[in-house]
Amino acid sequence: MNYLLTEEQIMLKEMVHKFAKERIGPVAADNERNHRFPADIIKEAGELGLMGIAYPSDYGGADMDYISYMLAVEEVSRWCASTGVIISAHSSLVCDPIYRFGTEEQKQKYLPDLLSGNKIGAFSLSESGAGSDAGATKTTAVLQGDKWILNGAKLWATNGNEAEVYILIASTDPSQKVKGISAFIIEKGTPGCYVGKLERKLGIKSSSTAEIILENVELPKEALLGELNKGFKVAMVTLDGGRLGIASQALGIARAAIEDAIKYSKERFQFDQPISNFQAIQWMIADMWVRYEAAWLLTWRASKMKNEGMDYSREAAMAKLDASEAAMFCANKAIQIHGGFGYTEDFNAERYYRDAKITEIYEGTSEIQRLVIARSLLK
Ligand code: CAA
Repeated sequence: MNYLLTEEQIMLKEMVHKFAKERIGPVAADNERNHRFPADIIKEAGELGLMGIAYPSDYGGADMDYISYMLAVEEVSRWCASTGVIISAHSSLVCDPIYRFGTEEQKQKYLPDLLSGNKIGAFSLSESGAGSDAGATKTTAVLQGDKWILNGAKLWATNGNEAEVYILIASTDPSQKVKGISAFIIEKGTPGCYVGKLERKLGIKSSSTAEIILENVELPKEALLGELNKGFKVAMVTLDGGRLGIASQALGIARAAIEDAIKYSKERFQFDQPISNFQAIQWMIADMWVRYEAAWLLTWRASKMKNEGMDYSREAAMAKLDASEAAMFCANKAIQIHGGFGYTEDFNAERYYRDAKITEIYEGTSEIQRLVIARSLLK
């Protein structure tokens, strides 16, 4: 699909492909098995500008666009879906809201370190009783004098264990539900704010997924991100962009599954010939590729709309829904093509299958994406 890309986007894609293939691919399976966060790779990604692709150089970003971001997350996720989500959650869920809603002072304070990858960010919205119903947050932020006092417990924050900057959503007026929610910036080490349980997961095991606990955390008034009681919109706008990142991650997983399946089908001999000679295999490969390219086009369109400042909520939901289901489809078929070997850790197909599943869940389940799409069509 290079004909849809600019020369600059193609160069970026090739650069990230080379970096991911040479540096990320060889260590991905081992990092997964050992639940090891790829700190050295994230540092290198920062040096290459990949932690701040779509942000202005004034704040330390790479001055590129959201299609470049999509391409980079896809290329990285082709080799390691964990590394893909580390970059995506940092960029879409933390850099983006600070850039979009932050005061000039907040941007100057946080963006240079975040966009260069010197510091990692995490977004903390979900709670045990507030998953799909993101507005049901029970974490509170109460203004006492000139300080905010935060109490509560957040779940499933990607990068939660390594982050030095958190965007956290709390209720500032519980009687108003979604109209009484605000966003805050919290720095690591703030007394009373600490990492709780680290989740043991089915996939994306070298990314951390953490509980964030808040016990009488005192924040200065300036820690508020965006307007008071407008934090639900901050979260929703942020998640629109996040969904593009997860769609791109899913595209990377789908492509990994297809490329591995094609390679294996040419090397595997049964009945005295490569199994790629059999129509049953060919049809699976054709179906996988159609699902991948259709999802790629939806993600490219939504990224282009974001670049152009259009409302792209529905298109981001469509891209994420389709790409995550394509990733599951392709990973499932890749195991089938690998047969018994596909079910073992000797091949990567089983990892793609485990990694693909989360793309149908986080940053809004497939059911929530369908709800967003349907609501926008029916309004
Ligand atoms: N952009 C701007 N505003 C938006 C919006 C958007 N995309 N979506 C909703 N809003 C606004 C609405 O316009 C409305 O404002 P007004 O009253 O002024 O009109 C307000 O927000 C409330 O909207 P809804 O009535 O639609 O709210 P709702 O309670 O019905 O919820 C929802 C809508 C789509 C279900 C939402 O709760 C949602 O997206 N849920 C899923 C949450 C999610 O994705 N969680 C993932 C967490 S992050 C994560 O996965 C961890 C990680 O680290 C990767």
